[in-house]
Amino acid sequence: MLRSRAPTAKLRMWLLITVLASLVLHSAVEEIALEEGIPCSKYQVAFNLSCYEFVRLQRTFTSAQSWCERGGGHLVFIENEETQQFLQNHISEVREWWIGLTSSSLLNETTEGSLIWLDTSNISYSNWHEDQPSLLANCGYILKNSGYKWGMTENCSQEFDFICEFGKMHSRWC
Ligand SMILES: *[C@@H]1O[C@H](CO)[C@@H](O)[C@H](O)[C@H]1NC(C)=O
Ligand SMILES: *[C@@H]1O[C@H](CO)[C@@H](O)[C@H](O)[C@H]1NC(C)=O
Ligand SMILES: *[C@@H]1O[C@H](CO)[C@@H](O)[C@H](O)[C@H]1NC(C)=O
Ligand SMILES: *[C@@H]1O[C@H](CO)[C@@H](O)[C@H](O)[C@H]1NC(C)=O
Repeated sequence: MLRSRAPTAKLRMWLLITVLASLVLHSAVEEIALEEGIPCSKYQVAFNLSCYEFVRLQRTFTSAQSWCERGGGHLVFIENEETQQFLQNHISEVREWWIGLTSSSLLNETTEGSLIWLDTSNISYSNWHEDQPSLLANCGYILKNSGYKWGMTENCSQEFDFICEFGKMHSRWC
């Protein structure tokens, strides 16, 4: 009975196509959702239109930034107290964490070093540790055992954990 086998093969093919189509659709939906701020991948946490990833890999500042960029993001920008509070709830206080703070002299050797976020925006909200930012300022991080205060270090080759931010409109221009 050839006729009875044909529908089975058709059904298998149809199932395969359906599964593939749903996979494609799923990732498309996920992308659209990310544009709208939610949801994030399972490794990320959503907060106010961005997805944040707390990466427990010891990396230098530039390699941490590259890691974030490969996923379409950047080292985190902390532009208000609410974001600072959100981050504090997700990171260990006994470790250092790179954030997206740098000196403009590092981005552009010809200019005087003012401190900026990696998208070159000025720092309005800040949470510096006392004695910070230091004059020898190249790369920004959250100091350990400091109550999550920020500092700058001259030595960007140190290897710290880091926080990536994905999905905000301006991240695309970095
Ligand atoms: C949420 O994001 C918008 C747009 O970036 C910003 O204007 C606003 O201050 C943010 N609110 C909080 C609580 O972070
Ligand atoms: C560096 O800064 C100078 C002066 O502000 C500007 O003319 C130049 O285009 C900048 N270069 C880069 C790569 O941003
Ligand atoms: C950022 O700060 C610099 C130096 O204080 C200032 O000249 C510049 O106008 C500021 N830019 C913005 C967009 O506020
Ligand atoms: C910077 O930090 C790295 C890693 O801790 C260390 O090996 C290196 O000696 C430091 N460089 C300077 C100039 O302190």
